[in-house]
Amino acid sequence: MTAARIDVHLEPSWWRTTLEHDVRTGLVAEQRSIPAKWFYDEIGCQLFDDITKLDEYYPFRAERDILATRANEIVAVAEADTLVELGSGTSEKSRVLLDAMADAHVLKRYVPFDVSEETLRSAADQIATDYPGTAVHGIVGDFDRHIPLVPIGGTGMVAFLGSTIGNFEPSARKRFIADVVAALEPDGTFLLGTDLVKDPDRLWAAYNDAKGVTAQFNLNMLTMINRELNADFDLDQFEHAADWDADNEWIDIRVRSKVAQTVQVRDLDLVVEFATGEEMKTEISAKFRLGGIAAELEAAGLAVVEQWTDSYGDFAVTLARKR
Ligand SMILES: C[S@@+](CC[C@H](N)C(=O)[O-])C[C@H]1O[C@@H](n2cnc3c(N)ncnc32)[C@H](O)[C@@H]1O
Repeated sequence: MTAARIDVHLEPSWWRTTLEHDVRTGLVAEQRSIPAKWFYDEIGCQLFDDITKLDEYYPFRAERDILATRANEIVAVAEADTLVELGSGTSEKSRVLLDAMADAHVLKRYVPFDVSEETLRSAADQIATDYPGTAVHGIVGDFDRHIPLVPIGGTGMVAFLGSTIGNFEPSARKRFIADVVAALEPDGTFLLGTDLVKDPDRLWAAYNDAKGVTAQFNLNMLTMINRELNADFDLDQFEHAADWDADNEWIDIRVRSKVAQTVQVRDLDLVVEFATGEEMKTEISAKFRLGGIAAELEAAGLAVVEQWTDSYGDFAVTLARKR
């Protein structure tokens, strides 16, 4: 197997300090919350992959269909020789774009970026093998700190797919887009995948699947805290909760305590009381409207080139160029 080059910006001490900080701050706050990035340990990445195959989880298929139909058009307009995917996970959707770039004889470099080192390493090595002659340069980093270190290059297209942008609160989303724009060279492009506002019943079903995989994914956050910080969350005494917040137009995802209970986090010397029904936020998944996406990108210094939706109007992919 051909090896990809991998730069790791998440040194173990940073990883540990940030986890300790995020869990302590999140557990002592009045409205408890843990940032969504801590979902993605090896098991979490596998569970997310399982979610993408669920009947109820339409966003993955809808976005992949748009990319499959429009990849040649996207590649022709973007005129990029480098594809960067932020939050690349298994890099499955990148392959659709890489194939189109290879067919157009423009593909030179692929730069996957993800917080999950194991998943990124195996995806990057596989791509290096499957696309011989393409330089693969993976970055293990955090959206919050390492976007400026991404080696995009002059003719780069930065893809941010899977509607991962919906996991940011609006102010963090604005900061993230500004970081991407700052990292792009003039004429560089940004390809953004966003889930769209739709019937609340379908949205609810996508985050409350019948097989309970999304529940497992959500509760895996507690397993990770038990393992990494020597805590004793009893997984039978917490449950998954995900509901549509119509005012904010996002799905609000929490873990809920089924009973009154005490949890110890030994490595943090922390004892936390949960009341019956008390909730801890783990993620939001914002849904978008075409005009709103375009306005946010334009305000950040990008010119929207094109917006594509799938045939059901469930999902959008927007291509924008730095002015
Ligand atoms: C919703 S998944 C999307 C995966 C893939 N792009 C897709 O469209 O199917 C989000 C990805 O972003 C990564 N991620 C989440 N938070 C991150 C952060 N703060 N910094 C870097 N990567 C992050 C996760 O590890 C995961 O692979």
